Amino acid sequence: MSQQKVAIVTGGSLGIGAAVVRRLARDGYAVTLDYHTHSDAANTIAQEIASQGGQALVVQADVSRVADIANLVAQTVARFGRLDLLVNNAGIEQRMAFLETTESAFDQQIAVDLKGPYFAAQAAARQMVAQGGGGCIINVSSVHEDVPMVGNAVYCAAKGGLRMLTRTLANELSALGIRIVNIGPGAVATPINAATLADPAKVQALLAEIPLDRIGQPDDIANAVAWLASDQASYITGTTLFVDGGLMVYAGSL
Ligand code: BGC
Repeated sequence: MSQQKVAIVTGGSLGIGAAVVRRLARDGYAVTLDYHTHSDAANTIAQEIASQGGQALVVQADVSRVADIANLVAQTVARFGRLDLLVNNAGIEQRMAFLETTESAFDQQIAVDLKGPYFAAQAAARQMVAQGGGGCIINVSSVHEDVPMVGNAVYCAAKGGLRMLTRTLANELSALGIRIVNIGPGAVATPINAATLADPAKVQALLAEIPLDRIGQPDDIANAVAWLASDQASYITGTTLFVDGGLMVYAGSL
């Protein structure tokens, strides 16, 4: 890499985000690791990267607040001088029956899972334009941007919204040299999934619908992020790469 590239990863302290941060640092990016709650985990990753000769900046930001997002980008640019890649990874999942869904639960999930990526993409794109154009935005979506899930309507609506956001923004951002792509993970072993994965019966039921017959690992997603952000993927925008072991195409048998 001639000039060092700079990335922001939201929700970078745990799960998929942590794997993405480590992978991008290994690939030579200077990385800003945003966290919401887990400062210890965030700092541990940053120290690990520094001890390996990499560069990581830790910033606390709640992506549902536009002011926090502005600060996240400003701190990144103050420290590293530019921004090349935004990974909108932060997300929450609160399953609940439709008839039980409260206004506050709805608002919170949409704010983190859809409003956050929207305004983070806006702030990142503004910075990319200001520094001369070009860049990449990757949204960590879900198979549920396409696959309905009973008891999870708000999450599905947020991820479905993220799908259309990416498809729409690809048009607006292409003239600026910015690509935007979704990754749609299936069932990945992360904290968001901890309750399901702690229940052997649920794991069995899940595996029965995953042709590749294993739960995904955070590195499966990090590998896809690294590739989509690279020049190898320079002709890809406005679409979703599903990284799901085949869950989306599971057809069962009679
Ligand atoms: C959800 C997981 C779920 C997986 C497959 C993900 O988006 O966060 O809880 O296991 O989709 O259904």
